[in-house]
Amino acid sequence: MAALELRGVSKRFPGVAAVTEVDLDVLPGEVHVFAGENGAGKSTLMKLVAQVEEPSSGRVTLHGEPVTFQGPGAARRLGISMVHQEFALAPDLSVAQNLFIGHEPGRYGWIARGDERKEAAALLRRVGLDVDPQRRVAQLSTAEQQRVELAKALAVDSTVLILDEPTATLTEREAEDLFGIVRELTAQGIAVLYISHRLDEIFEIGDRVTVMRDGVVVDTQPVSELDESRLVQLMVGRDVQNLYPRTHSDEPGEIRLRVDNLTRTGAVHDVSFEVRAGEIVGMAGLVGAGRTELARTVFGAEPPDSGTVSLDGRVLKIRTPADAIAAGIGYLTESRKTDGLAMHLGVDKNVTLANLPMRAGFIDLGAERRTAEKSREGLDIRGVPWVGRPVRTLSGGNQQKVVLARWLETGADVLLFDEPGRGMDVGAKSEMFQAMDSLAAEGKAIVFISSYLPELLNMCDRILVMRAGGIVGEVARTEFTEERVVALATGAKGNHE
Ligand SMILES: Nc1ncnc2c1ncn2[C@@H]1O[C@H](COP(=O)(O)OP(=O)(O)OP(=O)(O)O)[C@@H](O)[C@H]1O
Ligand SMILES: [Mg+2]
Repeated sequence: MAALELRGVSKRFPGVAAVTEVDLDVLPGEVHVFAGENGAGKSTLMKLVAQVEEPSSGRVTLHGEPVTFQGPGAARRLGISMVHQEFALAPDLSVAQNLFIGHEPGRYGWIARGDERKEAAALLRRVGLDVDPQRRVAQLSTAEQQRVELAKALAVDSTVLILDEPTATLTEREAEDLFGIVRELTAQGIAVLYISHRLDEIFEIGDRVTVMRDGVVVDTQPVSELDESRLVQLMVGRDVQNLYPRTHSDEPGEIRLRVDNLTRTGAVHDVSFEVRAGEIVGMAGLVGAGRTELARTVFGAEPPDSGTVSLDGRVLKIRTPADAIAAGIGYLTESRKTDGLAMHLGVDKNVTLANLPMRAGFIDLGAERRTAEKSREGLDIRGVPWVGRPVRTLSGGNQQKVVLARWLETGADVLLFDEPGRGMDVGAKSEMFQAMDSLAAEGKAIVFISSYLPELLNMCDRILVMRAGGIVGEVARTEFTEERVVALATGAKGNHE
């Protein structure tokens, strides 16, 4: 019997048919992948299953029993858990408190704190997370927070587990660890619904894949009967010829960004490097290696203890991000939810946030709208019938495009891109890389942080590798191999893992 059955399930938002007439069976013990372009309706479909959103119509059955809509708490008690694309943890509560949020008092209310702590520790072990359950969630890295989400899903006896782009924030190795956990869960008969844009992992972890486009299921196929190009075709409805459109220039320009002995105690360790006009310089490293910390320090989000940042030969005085922007440095952050976007504001405001068009001291609303409309067309931002639409109503990948649009609009000379392709579909990524290539060709200096090595290897002129807050090596384009970068990132000497 199917673990989960959907019949004619639809969801309409005002002006958007997000999910239309979906029929679907998910089997116990399978990893059922959901793929498709940004805004195709994947997350919404999962939210209907997890009862985060109420279907406009259709029927859902769980192990043969009809499910009536009662909200996410009820779904959890039925054994349906979801790890969201943007985590839903309470940052100021402890890990343990987060694990047991939403459990009805009857079940866990009587548990003494000590027992809760013990149970939390056991759950954290199951997901391979080695942190003190009393730590505040806000103090954890993204990868660690995701583990907490996973543990939270396991805190109830789930039979259906939904993972919405779980590896988007992970390095290759952490992703492998996650696959191990997923395999253990499916071996216990848990049905895993798994949203992904990463072709390699779809083939690695998936049993079957359902492809969605414009809210409709296009096809469901066993992964073994597909290859990459066929899958891409199903997703975007056309061939994507060139995912990495990079035109390397043989002669890099003058030094634009120069970082000398930059140090921030506990985070960034005596870092020096330079980026020339026209260059895309990659930053590789494991999560926690300090790449984001470095970018934040260069950008003035955190003050350095020592060292300097120069642009075109001038040493800059950067104390705040506003200083950095004024000097011509842009930073596309890895976390669009916490410091990337103003979720309640429209796409128009978000695109121009770093660079408000002013006219006679007032924000020029017409210019703002035109800029946003241009970005919407250029980057193909979907789900934005009018540009004043609040960003929170956009799909994850389309939100990421809004952040990108903002930095493309600033006219900054130096751009720091931190995991920019995260959550974007293959077509959108190709467009984004095209934009990065053009920026480089215009003579900008680009720092490209990514945990997905094929991206770096295809797009960069050089790759700097970080470990423990410092740069531990540089790989030239003529020497690019995954092994070389991984060996530096992990500190393995010579003998590649
Ligand atoms: N709360 C909401 N209000 C209005 N529209 C919404 C809301 N949530 C989602 N939508 C719209 O529904 C459509 C489907 O969005 P959804 O988040 O399901 O896409 P997705 O397939 O998960 O995309 P991505 O790969 O970018 O995460 C989009 O057009 C989106 O703008
Ligand atoms: Mg989504």
